[in-house]
Amino acid sequence: MVEAEGTRASTSAGWSIRAMTLEDYDRVYALWETCAGLGLSAADSRAGIAALLGRNPGMSFVAVSGRDIVGSALCGHDGRRGYIHHLAVSTTCRHQGIARALLDRCLNALANCGIDKCHAFVYADNEEGARFWLHVGAARRVELELFSVYTPRCDPEADKPTLNAREHPGPSTLP
Ligand SMILES: CC(C)(COP(=O)(O)OP(=O)(O)OC[C@H]1O[C@@H](n2cnc3c(N)ncnc32)[C@H](O)[C@@H]1OP(=O)(O)O)[C@@H](O)C(=O)NCCC(=O)NCCS
Repeated sequence: MVEAEGTRASTSAGWSIRAMTLEDYDRVYALWETCAGLGLSAADSRAGIAALLGRNPGMSFVAVSGRDIVGSALCGHDGRRGYIHHLAVSTTCRHQGIARALLDRCLNALANCGIDKCHAFVYADNEEGARFWLHVGAARRVELELFSVYTPRCDPEADKPTLNAREHPGPSTLP
């Protein structure tokens, strides 16, 4: 499951994985908007992603095919546990191993920082997303629930998430 980190990973399938930079932001955000099951909030603003990339250099990745960004994974850690957000692959490029390759790069980056375990947040009604995580060996933490609270600087109304095309709405708050 693990591949060498730090070099550009080329594949015969015509895509490759490299570290995400802020220059990728617009194209990555556009990709997220096409992925049902993801929720986007104020935390996904350019400033928010700049902060994540700045605090966790070289830990988030994109998959590129020609000039297109066809996959992305945001990754970071708090010194104790790792977190992966918005693991997403273009609908036209799925089932080619792109998400697994992105995940491998993230897990290697976390391991290199001394992190032993990584968490991912999936909306409760995103069964397809959950099936992916189970398939790649993640444990479903049925004994846990997620609780979120705002800090004094945030207007909760301004942080209302936009849920991508779903047949029914998800929870009202995002990780
Ligand atoms: C989930 C997602 C990232 C998978 O991307 P992908 O590039 O198609 O996945 P991969 O090709 O790397 O698949 C890796 C393995 O998982 C399996 N897999 C992929 N999607 C799966 C799914 N929905 N259910 C079960 N298994 C799945 C593949 O068959 C493959 O298995 P193998 O390596 O044993 O052959 C993609 O469907 C997506 O972007 N979904 C929308 C966003 C989302 O829900 N993200 C997850 C929550 S954050």
